[in-house]
Amino acid sequence: MGKLMPLFCLVYFTVCSSPLFTSSLTLHSDIQVLHVMKRCMDLYSIPPNSYLSSWDFVHDPCETTGGQFLGVLCSFPLDQSPSRITAIDLDSAGYEGFITSEIGNLTELTFINLSKNNFRGPIPESISNLKKLTRLSLSNNFFTGGIPLGLNTLKKLESLDISFNKLSGTILSSIGGLRGLTFLSLSNNQFTGRIPDLSGLWQLKTLDLSRNQLFGRLPNFPISLRTLILSHNILSGSLTPLIILKNLRVLDVSNNRLSGAITRDFFTIPKMTRLNVSNNHFKLLEIIRFVGHGAQLQVLDAQQNQLRGHLPVNLVTLQNLTTIDLSYNQFFGHIPDEYGARVGAWRTLYLDHNDLLGRLPAEFIKRPDRIRGSLSNNCLQCPDNIPLCTGRQRKISECQEHRDTN
Ligand SMILES: *[C@@H]1O[C@H](CO)[C@@H](O)[C@H](O)[C@H]1NC(C)=O
Ligand SMILES: *[C@@H]1O[C@H](CO)[C@@H](O)[C@H](O)[C@H]1NC(C)=O
Ligand SMILES: *[C@@H]1O[C@H](CO)[C@@H](O)[C@H](O)[C@H]1NC(C)=O
Ligand SMILES: *[C@@H]1O[C@H](CO)[C@@H](O)[C@H](O)[C@H]1NC(C)=O
Repeated sequence: MGKLMPLFCLVYFTVCSSPLFTSSLTLHSDIQVLHVMKRCMDLYSIPPNSYLSSWDFVHDPCETTGGQFLGVLCSFPLDQSPSRITAIDLDSAGYEGFITSEIGNLTELTFINLSKNNFRGPIPESISNLKKLTRLSLSNNFFTGGIPLGLNTLKKLESLDISFNKLSGTILSSIGGLRGLTFLSLSNNQFTGRIPDLSGLWQLKTLDLSRNQLFGRLPNFPISLRTLILSHNILSGSLTPLIILKNLRVLDVSNNRLSGAITRDFFTIPKMTRLNVSNNHFKLLEIIRFVGHGAQLQVLDAQQNQLRGHLPVNLVTLQNLTTIDLSYNQFFGHIPDEYGARVGAWRTLYLDHNDLLGRLPAEFIKRPDRIRGSLSNNCLQCPDNIPLCTGRQRKISECQEHRDTN
């Protein structure tokens, strides 16, 4: 059904609309394509004062001096050749409808942004005719179907954002040939299969594949990456392939099935500020002692793993750390006294649901308002009147038992 509609748009156009111009400055067929594009929207979904409602074909899209054809940019060739449409950047007015496959005729387009609307149906295959495209953003719509096969021929693409749609199928390895990409987001779709080797995308700074159904081990990623978001998939295996990513600022692999160790390597990445490894099957957290301002890490979220052993004392040597979540693990023993000195610098500390024993560092009790979080569901001697202690503690024997079985 969805696939039939663009065809309908096409037929409707050929039957119902006749060219309105005898002479115009915009290439005639570009005007026709804009016309078809507008006709492929559900009429009721074009609100007054929206960009699309300003597409009034009494005027020439490129030569209008009034408030017409908002969201459209043109080329103005120095010779006498007609203007071409170079950018379509629609507002998020809630447009409903399809992208006509005739969009592939706008061969001078460098920029398309249709994000935050209610477009549905497939991304037309003809989009691969737009060889000059540098930025394509179709995010936050209801597009279905797969990534168009020919997309990998758009060698000038720098930014591709098709996140928050209903796209499915696998991520073709040919996407690794789009070597100019600096931004790639496929997040919040229904993509499945393995992540292909993307290490050839040597300019890529941001990669977001979160909230799909990707499985298998982590592949090689480009060393240029600064932000890597892989959360909410079914990825497994170890973090080892990520160790080489020395430019990372943000790494989020939360909610997967990754296992093994969170090794010291991740804390020595010079500019890493946020590390989220929560909700996986990690067993070991390895933090070395930092001297000076070596590490920039501000946020460490390792909750809901199977981390065991004593709480890492070296955490206090990470000078920029403010937010720590090690809750729902199997840490045992005392909370290191050294943690007390970080109260205030550490603003959020979750150690709840572990097997911790004994007294709290004195500063936790002296300056209870300087740190928030939770220590509940351990076997701690936790004074009722401090907010960190809200919630129950377990019997000491339960935490000792656990320790002995390890
Ligand atoms: C788009 O290009 C195709 C192939 O050249 C042509 O048949 C079609 O009429 C064009 N559409 C418009 C609206 O110009
Ligand atoms: C694309 O359009 C949306 C909605 O109008 C806007 O929020 C976003 O900033 C635009 N993106 C780019 C890259 O221009
Ligand atoms: C880490 O990821 C989880 C799940 O994606 C999320 O709920 C949590 O807020 C993240 N932690 C931080 C500190 O952003
Ligand atoms: C980390 O802390 C140092 C000094 O404590 C500061 O100079 C630096 O800007 C901080 N880094 C970040 C990323 O905030």
